[in-house]
Amino acid sequence: MTGPTVRRLDDWDRDPLQEIAETHGTPAYVIDLDRVRENLDRLQTAFPDARLLYAVKANAGRAVLQTLADAGVGAECASIGEVSRALEAGFDPADVQYTPVNAPARDLDGLLIDGGGTITITVDAMDTIDRLAERGFTGDIAIRIHPGTGAGHSDAVATGADAKFGIPVDRVPEAVAAATERGFDVVGLHAHAGSGILNDGLAAHQEVIETIASVATDLDTDLEFVDVGGGFGVPYRPDEEPLDLDAIATATREALSEVDAELRIEPGRYLVADAGVLLARVNTVKPAGDGVLAGVDAGMTDLLRPALYDAYHPIRSLSEDRAGERETVSVVGPICESTDVLARDRRLPKPERGELYALGFTGAYGIEMASQYNSRPRAPVIAMEDGATELVRRRETVEDVIDSEVDR
Ligand code: LLP
Repeated sequence: MTGPTVRRLDDWDRDPLQEIAETHGTPAYVIDLDRVRENLDRLQTAFPDARLLYAVKANAGRAVLQTLADAGVGAECASIGEVSRALEAGFDPADVQYTPVNAPARDLDGLLIDGGGTITITVDAMDTIDRLAERGFTGDIAIRIHPGTGAGHSDAVATGADAKFGIPVDRVPEAVAAATERGFDVVGLHAHAGSGILNDGLAAHQEVIETIASVATDLDTDLEFVDVGGGFGVPYRPDEEPLDLDAIATATREALSEVDAELRIEPGRYLVADAGVLLARVNTVKPAGDGVLAGVDAGMTDLLRPALYDAYHPIRSLSEDRAGERETVSVVGPICESTDVLARDRRLPKPERGELYALGFTGAYGIEMASQYNSRPRAPVIAMEDGATELVRRRETVEDVIDSEVDR
């Protein structure tokens, strides 16, 4: 079941979302595991020969991880915390690829404890090779290239252009030699263009893959895989077109035609973004300028993307239809920051206190980027599967927020 190329916010049935809000309160994240499977099917259809690793950073909830581990994909992890959650959810260590950036010492130490012998680590600096050797790491190594070109929904996520990530192309042979000298098997090359790539970012994405392809052909090393990262975008705005997966798959194959190694892709957002919504209820309505402010119980602590990237998330009223009464509404949260605006100047039904809203495309980088700022407990997660709903992560309490304080 590959499903539609995108599930827009209007495609969600209202009744189960209303029921979830009644039962579990708001704010609350909803994640539809059947939709995650559909997204996976479409990717696997477009990339039948590729090994797919799920980028855990997009949504590390156990229900999501178990769904994807059961489907037989691997996991791409950015920290030892993500590695631990992937292993706990059932991923086999051999299917885990750890791709840190400037790995903290505690992460590298933890990697050994958590069965690092079989995990592949993608090194992003010569220092990491030394630091792994010092710790007696015996697993395989991939080298992350800094391709110098990036793409994505904003400059903030055009990772490929940011020198923080990876080893410059001209230093890759030196890194391979250093790793080999220390007894490591260099089994792969890795590069990631950026995140949220839609059709207009295809050329930049292809350029990154061409760079990795030329490094792979120049190296005198047998590679098991070439990992071209994730970044497959999802059209959050109503006027954006879905990513042409066949086009990106063809471009990828063309760029790698001379490379004899398994293709790896590591999508995060594509698998989970449109499988999630965030439910929030209006608690305050007040006029502001030419429009109206609707104050809701979710804020930038639940969905950071609008404040951090000026990202657009669609919003819809789940209360009964009130045709003809649309107004210009900005939806704001309860956090003491001016940037705590979830949706700006949208045409919505005249807001009413108690009204239920759904924000779309929050399955990716929603709860993962949540915080307890203003001492706000994090919201619960409710999974939908096969027509049933289930609480899979409870609402945090204020006690949870206080709990790690030490008595003195
Ligand atoms: N692989 C690597 C090495 C990455 O750095 C990332 C994302 C991915 C895979 C997955 O990218 P995706 O397929 O999800 O686009 N917080 C930002 C996104 C940051 C992504 C960073 N790296 C946002 O909310 O848009």
